[in-house]
Amino acid sequence: SAAEKGGYDYFMLKEIAEQPKAVADTLLGRIDASGSLTLDELRIPHGVLREAQKVVIVACGTAFHAGLIAKYAIEHWTRIPCEVELASEFRYRDPILDQRTLVIAISQSGETMDTLMALRHAREQGAKVLAICNTNGSTIPRESDAVLYTHAGPEVAVASTKAFLTQLVACYLVALYLGQVRGTKWGDEIRAVIRDLSQIAGEVDRVLETMEPVRELARSLSRKNTVLFLGRHVGYPVALEGALKLKELAYMHAEGFAAGELKHGPIALIENDLPVVIVVPSPRSRSVLHDKIVSNIQEIRARGARTIVIAEEGDEAVEPYADHLIRIPATPALLQPLVATVPLQVFACELATARGNEVDQPRNLAKSVTVE
Ligand code: AGP
Repeated sequence: SAAEKGGYDYFMLKEIAEQPKAVADTLLGRIDASGSLTLDELRIPHGVLREAQKVVIVACGTAFHAGLIAKYAIEHWTRIPCEVELASEFRYRDPILDQRTLVIAISQSGETMDTLMALRHAREQGAKVLAICNTNGSTIPRESDAVLYTHAGPEVAVASTKAFLTQLVACYLVALYLGQVRGTKWGDEIRAVIRDLSQIAGEVDRVLETMEPVRELARSLSRKNTVLFLGRHVGYPVALEGALKLKELAYMHAEGFAAGELKHGPIALIENDLPVVIVVPSPRSRSVLHDKIVSNIQEIRARGARTIVIAEEGDEAVEPYADHLIRIPATPALLQPLVATVPLQVFACELATARGNEVDQPRNLAKSVTVE
């Protein structure tokens, strides 16, 4: 009913709008007055966290994209090697697991069969499993050794939005906590990022306030057949997520690429007026990558691409090459996905609407996939 949708036309719009609160709720009570993380709720002995030699993340779809981003954070802040794998592929390749492997299973619903089977396999091999989940008492957290709940509230639309942002927050918390417990050389940076995280809900809110041009752009592209997405570093999984949203909602051919791979093949796809969305890393903290991606934008534009550039406020270098410029607030490099994903969600939702698609219930899809 309209009341359930809180005055929005679709659950998806409501859930996109709820993201600042979802992010804030997921942080609530997990940062103490001194600015340290308190995740005692995990009830995993510190000894186990200190001795873990490998982290393996398993998940599907959007949750898998959160896992891809988590890898950058975990390896940077903890120096523990981290692998990310599609849950549906995991157990069939005889993965190497033991008591010193920490497996993280990410799932909004907690009922995804592929993810459940992956975590069962991991536990059989003696690994400890931590679930990151949005649904209290669901099967995946019940069968795990520990759980960190995301507090997004119920997500009804099939396309995941607020659950994704809170999965990211939970992954950052786990990465920072592991860093804190193990005491890495990044102590100062970890404390600074924890401070920045507590400001991030306000930044997500600011992004939401500037989305009208994105909606307008989406409507103007409603008759296109293909949209490509490019990113680097944590912007690469963001590009994959932008493409997945467009597939499921707009039923358009959409693909995400690591921008550095362009020259190894995908650049052959570029043709006149092809829309390409580029997620640009911050010029402050990742200046080499920033410069490289600016050259990519230049290259594809010279070949006729219509460039839709998502870049940090104050990044002037992209201006000459952006046919459309979407600004996002400056954040620490690893946290950028929390703000960069939001315009892509709005873009896909508006394109779906413009194409007359059912936004909350896309064809052929179910909210939770309980078969393998
Ligand atoms: C996201 O928009 C999708 N509908 C889908 O990829 C989803 O993220 C995936 O099926 C995993 O679901 P889960 O988080 O409930 O395990």
